[in-house]
Amino acid sequence: MCGIVGYIGAEEAAPILLDGLARLEYRGYDSAGLAVFSPAQGLQVVKAKGRLSVLSGIVDGGSALHGTVGVGHTRWATHGEPSDVNSHPQVSASGRIAVVHNGIIENYVQIKEFLASKGVHFVSQTDTEVVAHLLEYYYEGDILEAVSKVLHRIEGAYALGIICADCPDRLIAARKDSPLILGYGEGFNFLASDVTAVIKYTRDVCYLEDGEIAVLTKDAIQVYSHPYLQPVEKERHHVDWEISAAEKGGYEHFMAKEIMEQPKAFHDTISPRIQDGRVVLEGLDLDGDYLRRMDKIYIIACGSSYHVGMVAKYILEKALRKPVEVALASEFRYCDPLVTRDTLCIVISQSGETIDTMAALREAKRRGATILSIVNVVGSSIARESDYVLYTWAGPEIAVATTKAYSTQLALIYLITLRFAELLGTMAEEERRAVIDELRTIPGKMQKILDDRESIQYYASIYFNHESIFFIGRNIDYAIGLEGSLKLKEISYIHSEAYAAGELKHGTISLIEEGTLVIALASCAPLFDKLVSNIVEVKSRGADVLGLTVESKGEDLKKVVDNAILVPDTHPMLLPSLDVIPMQLFAYYVALMRGCDIDKPRNLAKSVTVE
Ligand code: F6R
Repeated sequence: MCGIVGYIGAEEAAPILLDGLARLEYRGYDSAGLAVFSPAQGLQVVKAKGRLSVLSGIVDGGSALHGTVGVGHTRWATHGEPSDVNSHPQVSASGRIAVVHNGIIENYVQIKEFLASKGVHFVSQTDTEVVAHLLEYYYEGDILEAVSKVLHRIEGAYALGIICADCPDRLIAARKDSPLILGYGEGFNFLASDVTAVIKYTRDVCYLEDGEIAVLTKDAIQVYSHPYLQPVEKERHHVDWEISAAEKGGYEHFMAKEIMEQPKAFHDTISPRIQDGRVVLEGLDLDGDYLRRMDKIYIIACGSSYHVGMVAKYILEKALRKPVEVALASEFRYCDPLVTRDTLCIVISQSGETIDTMAALREAKRRGATILSIVNVVGSSIARESDYVLYTWAGPEIAVATTKAYSTQLALIYLITLRFAELLGTMAEEERRAVIDELRTIPGKMQKILDDRESIQYYASIYFNHESIFFIGRNIDYAIGLEGSLKLKEISYIHSEAYAAGELKHGTISLIEEGTLVIALASCAPLFDKLVSNIVEVKSRGADVLGLTVESKGEDLKKVVDNAILVPDTHPMLLPSLDVIPMQLFAYYVALMRGCDIDKPRNLAKSVTVE
């Protein structure tokens, strides 16, 4: 979703801003723009619909714009179509103040009417334009005062970057419910939507909190709390991942690189947390008494993270004998959820900034629940507002379609399950140790599947022309089907649905006809025969079936399907980590063969910061 970067220093700002925006491209956008100030040329604003390369072409890679302070933006349209005029920065009527914004100003219509009654003329359909005009309305020589007054008036979510021609020695940043970080340099400073934009220049950052305003000069950053403008001391964080982690490293797409990184990401997530054959979860001091009192676990997430929650429900309920509910975050907050002080909410989010998930977390907290979050981005909003946080050590995930974050979220679900089962005494010591031993073998087994990726590429070449694909499975295989189907549709644009295999005959089987592709997941050993019956049902109606099971069941499966994918055998609880990889590879190769924009699928954003 929209990307923001701002720079103030001694270098030419435009090339630095373009470079930062390029690193934020993965968030998803449809237009881009820059505002740069120079004493000779004043505030120069250039905006263009389309890819960043269009903007970069107009400003000759930045060399056509002079000035050492500026803001840049990639826009993911919400209010008003993608167009040059609706792109950010939005500028006040006099052209003195430029604003970039991520989020939605919910009361923009009222403010627009108010400003129109004062004679202000609007040129765009955006909600953001009201911020630029309102700033000018309140501006009486002190831009910080003006920002503070504007924040009193606007409602909704925002990360703002502001530059004013009257005080070009400073940049202003403000946030509420949309992410914004500040980067500390020597003789320069940054504001940005996330650290990927600034890591080439500095690794020292702080996270702006809701209700904070920052004033950046080239030599200092001062943060104030809104509304009384009290100075705030910010804690600096050092980002220690390598810049190469956010680069393609020889792969054609980030998604391919991230799929291949899964064995390492999984290993990095589990290995520090297994000590002397036991699971140790840092900082998580929920004890046996708490867990026995706990009335249920509520898992809250969106999209693929929600699909991890679906897998988790099967695993946690079986191991802990406690009720587990899984809720889509966007539904949770409006369903008057049955959450008590004894409910544990596990909130799952790669970005840690998904606004629906964030809002659901706050609702659960308001109702007294304990919040344990599983997050990839260190210091993100969800991590900071949770009672406990466990980080997935996947490294930066750039492709819009998640892969390694999904796998590491699963890894943490296994660890939580094992730890809670130990505390509750619901899993025999011997089995627990056996699962822990097996857990260590998963990266190697993942690698084996990845090494054989050409077979999946071959199946993709057979099936990439299908226009509708069904995934069927039972239990955790059904949950993996949901993820396989989402991966496929989001990057290849093929219509696809995932069904609990036993549910097909209650309606959906009418869609199966000659040549329909059905991907049948049959890795759950106790349900294998049931799944075979479902495969036979769809085959006898003409379906072409691509099946998946474990190696030990391979020969049996091959008797009933047209093609089979085999994954190494493992403990049933850990199967999702192996099953999902062929699904990711299949989606990737199909999208590749269809010529899709794999890392940046249409209409999608990596970090969904609007409701
Ligand atoms: C799909 C995908 C999305 C995200 C969802 C939640 O490949 O990546 O469905 O899983 O938008 O995002 P996070 O996990 O950042 O809260």
